[in-house]
Formats: sequence, structure tokens, C-alpha cells
Amino acid sequence: MQDFVYYTPTEVVFGKESESQIAALVKKHGGSKVLVHYGGQSAIRSGLLAKVESQLKEQGIEYICLGGVVPNPRLSLVKEGIALCQREAVDFILAVGGGSVIDSSKAIAYGLCYDGDVWDFFCGKAVAKAAMPIGVVLTIPAAGSEMSDSCVITNEDGDIKRGYSSNVIRCKFAVMNPERTYTLPAYQTACGAVDIMMHTMERYFSPDTDMPLTDALAEGLLRVVKDSAYRLLADPQDYNARAQIMWASSLAHNDLTGCGMKSDFATHKLEHELSALFDVAHGAGLAAVWGSWARYVMDANISRFEQFAVNVMGVSPSDDPRATAIAGIEAMEAFYRDIDMPVSIKELLGREVSDDEISLMADKCSRDGSMIIGSFKKLDRQDMVNIYLAAK
Ligand code: NZQ
Ligand code: ZN
Repeated sequence: MQDFVYYTPTEVVFGKESESQIAALVKKHGGSKVLVHYGGQSAIRSGLLAKVESQLKEQGIEYICLGGVVPNPRLSLVKEGIALCQREAVDFILAVGGGSVIDSSKAIAYGLCYDGDVWDFFCGKAVAKAAMPIGVVLTIPAAGSEMSDSCVITNEDGDIKRGYSSNVIRCKFAVMNPERTYTLPAYQTACGAVDIMMHTMERYFSPDTDMPLTDALAEGLLRVVKDSAYRLLADPQDYNARAQIMWASSLAHNDLTGCGMKSDFATHKLEHELSALFDVAHGAGLAAVWGSWARYVMDANISRFEQFAVNVMGVSPSDDPRATAIAGIEAMEAFYRDIDMPVSIKELLGREVSDDEISLMADKCSRDGSMIIGSFKKLDRQDMVNIYLAAK
């Protein structure tokens, strides 16, 4: 078991009545001039934004609004947000949305406590010492950014998508009402389920073994998210299924399912190049490459894949561990198909990816061949090319 620090300072307020507490939470966490940051139209259409604004007004909390965050959030809007908050002397950021809005808020929060270019954090030139406080009203369970230490931004100059992680950015609070997710398109619900499961799997497929407690938490979470995704196919307004997935989103990425394990975020790194280059939904990109990654690395520890097959995917154990492991990977791909997720890059993009595009993604993912990813099996640039080719 690896040594670890489990740090989850975010106050979670969960359930149907949770939204009535938004303004009180802002006040409690020191907000007196707030940036309300949101995405496209969903929070306007649902009336959530109006609800937030009226609560802030009632409580006498000054605020300004900045919408327009797009999936795979862009650096240009982050910079616009930083300048706006500086002009308006904002002291608290309220993210109303999903991973993209939260990450855009996090990047603004970093920039407000730093004299240089905020991109410095994402390209390894600076380490964050502080950030403006953030609260979240979550509308899509997926990225887990509401409880994670991570922030992922795309720089339009070169389509470079990079993450930066620090404990100083952890959200002060997260308000989560599962009813808000009734309006999600089935595609986004499925993308969310894939991402939540992948955050757990990228901790589960670890070089560390003999971790029965962490394994049991991870396997339980994976089974529940899979079952809940099926329930939502039948009834998108199944409150309990929505609630299971929403809570799982946070637990999957606040590190609970990885305590004591060395993580392996190779599939995420491979996917980030897909969403950087083609602007696809992150969850769908993960589904498109995971099976190819799994087949490529499984022999590094076949019993781990065998355990996954039996305990998570419900495959019957057999005398042939490799056959069981492959059946588990196939069962996961069958699940992706059932929820309308792609299992290849062609299915993701609707066209073949070219060899030049694969080469470019491998260059970026390996920082021109200088970086290795993964821990279950370490992967160099050529391995990345091989996995993209297998997923083609
Ligand atoms: O912009 P609006 O109109 O709000 O529409 C959004 C968006 O189009 C829509 N949506 C959100 N809530 C809705 C809704 N539509 C109807 N009803 C609702 N209640 O859903 C679409 C996707 O939203 P987005 O925030 O992009 O989704 P997600 O939460 O999956 O976030 C994806 C981003 O998070 C990053 C990803 O790379 C990607 O950039 N990640 C962030 C992580 C982190 N910070 O810890 C970890 C993840 O691995 C991931 O990399
Ligand atoms: Zn993810």
C-alpha cells in the first residue's frame, strides 16, 4: 500500500432542497462580490441561473455574470474572466455548470492570485501558491471537478489541452441537486457515466495489488454507475439513479477510490489529445480508446483484468485467466455500445483518423517523445501510436 494524503475540504450539500442554500454558502465562505460563471444555454433555460441571481440579490450579495464557457473550455475566456474580475474587484467565483464551467472558474481563480500569464501553470512554468475561492452548483455529473484538485484548459493557440492540479484550487462547496440533471441529453448522461467510471478505473488498474478495501470501493462504484446508466436509459427521470451517478461523480475523482494506489491516467492523456484536436466530448473520447489501451496493456498484470472482469463486469471465472480478462474488456465495450458510446476513433469522429493526425497526437501526448505516460504499463511515443492505430 502506497502512503497517501486524503484531502477533501469541499462541503457537499446534496439533494432536492440543496439549491436553497447557495447564497448562504457563498456568504459563509467569504464571498461579497461574486462572479457567476456559466456555460451556454442550459442553466438559463432551466431557470437555475435566475434562481441563483435572485438568491444573491435577496442576501444583498453583489455579483456579475460571465457566460459562454464551451465544452473543452478555452484559455481566451479564462483571460477575459480574469480581466473582468480584476476590474470589478471580485472576491468569490460561483461556477454554475459542469466540468468545463468549473475548470474555467478554477483557471480564473488561479489567474487572480498570480502576476504572470495563467497559462504558466499549465505548461509547468509556475506553481500556484493561492487561488480565489470557488463554489459550485453542479449541473452534470461527469468530470468530478467539483471535488478534484484538477483543472483542464485548452489553449486555442496550437489546440493544446493541459491539466494542472493543486490543493489550493479545491472548491469550498458543491451544491448538487440530481433533479437538475433530468434535462441532460442522453449522450451527455452517457459521456458522464464513462468519465466517472474511467476516473475509478484509472486508479484501479494500478501496479499496486493486495488492496482489498480500495478495490471494494472502486468495484462497488463501478457496478452502481453501470447499473444506474442502464436505469436511466429506461427512465431519464429516475431520481435515485440520477442521484447515484451524481454522488459517484465526486467520489470517483476526489481520490477515495484510489487511496494507497499508484494511479494510471494514460487513457485520459490519450483522450485529451482527441478532444484538443477534434473538440469531441471527453467521455466519448475515453470510450473510443479504452478498449485498445486495455488490450495493449493487459499482459502487464492479467489477474487484475481478470478480477475486473469477474467483480465488475459479471463475467464467470474460467480456467483461462486471459480469456476471462478479454471477456471483461468485451463486456465493457458492449456496455459502451448499449449507452450509445463509441468504441473506436472512427465511431467517435464519424470518419477515419489519418496517420498524420495520429502522429501529431502522439507527438503532443509524449511532448515530442520526451514523456512517458501510465504506470500499469509505461507507454512511450511509439506505444501511443500503436494504441491510436488499434483504436482507429
Ligand atoms: O453549456 P451548456 O449549455 O450548459 O451545455 C452543457 C454542455 O454542452 C451541457 N449541460 C450541462 N449541464 C446540463 C447540460 N445540458 C442540459 N442540462 C444540464 N443540466 O452538457 C455539455 C457538457 O458540459 P461540460 O461541462 O463540458 O461536461 P463535463 O462535466 O463532462 O466536463 C468536461 C470537461 O472537463 C474536463 C474535460 O477534459 C472537459 O474539458 N475534465 C476535468 C477534470 C477535472 N477538472 O477534474 C477531470 C476530467 O477527467 C476531465 O478531463
Ligand atoms: Zn475524465
